[in-house]
Amino acid sequence: MGIGSKLYYFDEISSTNEYAKKIISDATDGAIVLADVQTAGRGRFDRTWYSPEGGIYLSVILFTDKPLLIPILAGVAICETFYNNYDILLGIKWPNDIFLNDRKVGGVLVEIVDGVIIMGIGINLNIVKFPEELEGLASSIFLETKKRLDKMMVYNDLCREIDNLYNALKENRTGEILQKWRNYTIMFGKTVEIETPLKTIYGRVIDIAGNGALVLALPDGRIEKVMAGDCRIIKERKTWF
Ligand code: BTN
Repeated sequence: MGIGSKLYYFDEISSTNEYAKKIISDATDGAIVLADVQTAGRGRFDRTWYSPEGGIYLSVILFTDKPLLIPILAGVAICETFYNNYDILLGIKWPNDIFLNDRKVGGVLVEIVDGVIIMGIGINLNIVKFPEELEGLASSIFLETKKRLDKMMVYNDLCREIDNLYNALKENRTGEILQKWRNYTIMFGKTVEIETPLKTIYGRVIDIAGNGALVLALPDGRIEKVMAGDCRIIKERKTWF
């Protein structure tokens, strides 16, 4: 198996993504940096990723010329891990925030350095307490299900699921990855506001495109595909659809 066949393990590190960037020249396709604790874990949009004991923090180094669907693949791999092995159904908020009971329990930070992909995954597995500013927003698998899962077992299951999906990507079976994403997503029919570097886009989610873009129906009836951005689901009901 390629994914995880080379492992760099730390009990504590600043950030697995940062370390992965430093060892690219030494790494092989599928090498993993894994840590029990991160002292400077990073999220998307330069946010901090709370990374105490009890969570799973890893970065997978991927040598592929098909980077577009990697964020989608990562979210699906997390959901497949918990559904196939522990009967826990997680939901994906585009592109790859992982939710359970309306709280965020996992996230993915994909970065590209010199054409090499660093796929960073954080899962709030057995974390028992969150800082005040995350209360009501973040949670853990343990807090939501009362199941305390073995971290190394979940890690091994995750490697296997990533491996399956990465093989599908390499064999151009991308439709399978997208279809699984559709099965897990909580986005369809939701009204969203997506902040992109150029503009804020407001619309209703109708699908995901072959390149991982979110497909929106806009208030004026046009269809827009959004590749990247900070996505907020709007809870209050709008009347324009
Ligand atoms: C997000 O939802 O904002 C993405 C969170 C990604 C966190 C993971 S934990 C392992 C890897 N190392 C980091 O510093 N970040 C990612």
